[in-house]
Amino acid sequence: MPVKVLFVCLGNICRSPAAESVMNCLIAKHKLEGRVVTDSAGTAGYHTGDFADPRMVEAGERRGYQFLSRARKVYPEQDFKEFDYILAADYANLAALKRQMIHPTELENRLFLMCDFCKNFKSKEVPDPYFGGADGFEHVLDLLEDACSGLLEHIKLHHKMS
Ligand code: 4NP
Repeated sequence: MPVKVLFVCLGNICRSPAAESVMNCLIAKHKLEGRVVTDSAGTAGYHTGDFADPRMVEAGERRGYQFLSRARKVYPEQDFKEFDYILAADYANLAALKRQMIHPTELENRLFLMCDFCKNFKSKEVPDPYFGGADGFEHVLDLLEDACSGLLEHIKLHHKMS
């Protein structure tokens, strides 16, 4: 069974699809395709079916990332059973996920902030770039590269992958 990772933000068009793209690139670099699999979702559904925000795609493609996914909302009934790691972009989305739990311990040891795995940045949140300028998208990618690299190291260690 692969280790399954779900990245969650608000709209699923900026931060979480970028996290998915960065993580997929690292998974390929480490030759762990099929052993670690990713998906992303939003706690809000306003962009359901949309491709990632063009500003996020442009910034990500400049760094060699591919954006293939389309936005969807979190499906708690399915996602909370299926994923081994559920990572929220910020505290607001972490709280939104917690509100959707049926049992308080349902996601014990499976629910994190993306930045919990950062090694270099001290930030706790990946800030929402949607209403800001181009710098915001670059900063999101800087944070996600740090977080995803830490996350993959963690997964390799805890799931005995070399
Ligand atoms: P995301 O960014 O949560 O990183 O996908 C946002 C996308 C859309 C909106 C807000 C944040 N919005 O208000 O439509």
